[in-house]
Amino acid sequence: MYISALRNFLYLPMSVIFILFGFVLFFILMAIPKRKYAAINSAHQKSDLEQRIGDIGDFIAEGDKVLDVGCGNGQFGEEIAKRFNADVRGVDVVDYANADIPIEFYDGVHLPFEDNSFDVIVMAMMLHHVEHQEELLSEAIRCSRKGLVIYEDTYFSYWQKLSIIWNDFYSNRVIGLIKILKGLESKDILKMPLPFKFRCVNGWHGLFHKKKLTPKNTIVRHLGIKPHSKVTFVLEK
Ligand SMILES: C[S@@+](CC[C@H](N)C(=O)[O-])C[C@H]1O[C@@H](n2cnc3c(N)ncnc32)[C@H](O)[C@@H]1O
Repeated sequence: MYISALRNFLYLPMSVIFILFGFVLFFILMAIPKRKYAAINSAHQKSDLEQRIGDIGDFIAEGDKVLDVGCGNGQFGEEIAKRFNADVRGVDVVDYANADIPIEFYDGVHLPFEDNSFDVIVMAMMLHHVEHQEELLSEAIRCSRKGLVIYEDTYFSYWQKLSIIWNDFYSNRVIGLIKILKGLESKDILKMPLPFKFRCVNGWHGLFHKKKLTPKNTIVRHLGIKPHSKVTFVLEK
């Protein structure tokens, strides 16, 4: 069991408060000066990247070839390259890249690489953005030698699912707009697809089982006052 009954119960009122607070938050964030906003954003991203790196453990070895699928701005890929002295490339379908790793753009389904081209493939907070999830997962399995690391938002009740759908819309469209208005992001970020293809932990495990992936580690985190849960899957081929 990944969530207590009490936490799950409290997530109902917390989800309502979280959604209503979003409207006020827009004006608060717009009022914060650009420099301060950028500093808060980068501190938040730093702690998030730190946690993600910790979840990888020894699955990525020094010098490994790594593909970051749905790399976005490329910052996570760049961090992996630094921490593991790894050879990291990124692919995405939208160009708002801002990092020192090679990034290619492709059709969103067919990875433009040979079989087993990479030791590890990472997919961070991206699979819920993918309409053809199963096809892309098969492609990632085909191109990886050891396996995959997948990071996702997840849910344990209907209200938590509603809350993470709202969060996905808010953090990509509303926060995206705020960043564009502050001159911190390219307007292409608003082209990011949002099909809200979230799954619960068992739903993901079912899909991995179907694709013959073996979960080496499943790490679930509940996020303090936000009624959200995150999960990291380390998966062996
Ligand atoms: C929420 S962002 C996450 C970015 C980055 N991985 C991170 O963790 O910061 C989701 C990313 O997935 C990308 N994406 C959506 N569909 C995709 C697809 N079919 N293939 C690759 N990337 C995709 C989006 O363009 C976006 O950059």
